[in-house]
Formats: sequence, C-alpha cells, structure tokens
Amino acid sequence: MTIRIETDRLILRLPEPRDTDAHIAMMQEPAVAATLSPTKKPQARSDLWRQFASYLGHWQIRGFGFFSVEEKATGAWVGRVGPWMPEGWPGIECGWAFHSDYWGKGYAPEAAIASVRWTFAQFPDLGRIISVIEQNNTNSQAVAKKIGEEKSGEIFEYKGYRLDIWAANREAWLEWFGL
Ligand SMILES: CC(C)(COP(=O)(O)OP(=O)(O)OC[C@H]1O[C@@H](n2cnc3c(N)ncnc32)[C@H](O)[C@@H]1OP(=O)(O)O)[C@@H](O)C(=O)NCCC(=O)NCCS
Repeated sequence: MTIRIETDRLILRLPEPRDTDAHIAMMQEPAVAATLSPTKKPQARSDLWRQFASYLGHWQIRGFGFFSVEEKATGAWVGRVGPWMPEGWPGIECGWAFHSDYWGKGYAPEAAIASVRWTFAQFPDLGRIISVIEQNNTNSQAVAKKIGEEKSGEIFEYKGYRLDIWAANREAWLEWFGL
C-alpha cells in the first residue's frame, strides 16, 4: 500500500522502519515527553522503539494509523499525525506530535486537516473524529480548535489521567473543510 498526501508545505506518508530514530528523538525531547510520556519524563529508547513498532502494527491491524510527516522544503521527518484507535480507545482519534524544531509554523493543523479529510473519505459511516487531550495541554487544544474540534464534555480515563475528548462531527467538518 502506498499513501502520499500532499499539503502546501508537507507530505504525509506511511510510517516506515527508517523513521524509527526520528520518532525516538522526537519522543525523547523533554517538551514532547512532558505531554506524551506516561511519567512526563523522556522514556527509554527501548520503550519508544516498541511504541514505534506499535504504530507500524496499527496499520497492519486497522488499515489506518499515524502518518509520518515530512517537510517538503527539506525532506526532514518533522512529526506524526493521523487516525489512531488502539484497543479500548473511545473512537477514531486524530493525534499529532511534532519535533519541537518545527513548532510555531502551523504544521500541526495543516497536517491534521489533511489526515482528517483522508479519514472521513476512508470511512463514509464515521460520524465524528475525536482528539483525546490533557486538560493542561494548551498547545494541543489550540490545534484541536484550528481543525474544527470542540470539547465534547466527555472524559476518557487512561492510565490514571482524566483526558478531555474533543470532537468534530462529520457533516459540520466536511461543510467547513470539504473533502
Ligand atoms: C501540539 C503541537 C503539535 C502543537 O504544535 P504548534 O507548532 O505549537 O502548533 P501549530 O502547528 O498550530 O503552530 C502554532 C503557531 O505557528 C505559527 N505559524 C507560523 N506560520 C504559520 C502558518 N503558516 N499557519 C499557521 N500558523 C503559523 C503561529 O504563530 C501559530 O501560533 P498561534 O496559534 O498562537 O497563532 C506541539 O506542541 C507538540 O508536538 N506537542 C507535543 C506532543 C503533543 O502534546 N501532542 C498532542 C497530544 S494530545
């Protein structure tokens, strides 16, 4: 399977084994670990290797998953974005994480809008897309707002954390952003 989604400044493609080190480097950044690590501290390389293996496996099991995001201008691996629904998840989530060298450019919403559009096109019966976001993750909440999501009021309890479910309904989203 080959998937390549092009936006103004980015390319979204399937994650590949060659992305392993870039993924680990991003996840080991303290600023990224502060929101994505269960302990809020950078995780061991071996744990992050397993995590990346699960991203590849998610595509095998579900037929969808996180995309690797490349910056068109440089070819650099800048982050990962995409639909994600591991066992026990409260719906198909659009998740996002970028290496902090690439924050502050508007890359997260640019990639997320493209991936939500892809997800709605893949699943014609999907009524809404969600994002599961910690209550103090204001950077991520800002991205959710930019891609048309609102706080639904639902809480997802995960590993001792109470996470807000942000969501966008299909019809409203497609009316706003188009297929
Ligand atoms: C969440 C995360 C992806 C947000 O990244 P970000 O770079 O801060 O967010 P954006 O891509 O929306 O960029 C925001 C800024 O880029 C700037 N920008 C520059 N050029 C831009 C452009 N062409 N278009 C839009 N914004 C642009 C703007 O100033 C904008 O700031 P503003 O929203 O205050 O106006 C990032 O903080 C991250 O990876 N965090 C760690 C992982 C994480 O928490 N993931 C989510 C778990 S729920």
